[in-house]
Amino acid sequence: MNLTICIGSSCHLKGSKKVAQLFEQLIDEKNLRDKVNFYATFCMGNCQNGISVSIDDQVYSVTPETAQQFFEKEVLSRVEE
Ligand code: FES
Repeated sequence: MNLTICIGSSCHLKGSKKVAQLFEQLIDEKNLRDKVNFYATFCMGNCQNGISVSIDDQVYSVTPETAQQFFEKEVLSRVEE
């Protein structure tokens, strides 16, 4: 699975760095290095909706507060399939 986070300026201001660190930490904790390819990218054209994150081609919006829940719901559920 490809997990991508936007580090463009709008998402950066909303806290994408914090979310990226959390995702890194969760990927390590759950031993997902071989299952999840984690990338950072610049503006995904979805600035108004908050921190943009994509899983493969699907774009989602998260905040630093919802990032962990997002990871558990969207990422873990897929890798466990
Ligand atoms: S800066 Fe992240 S979607 Fe535009």
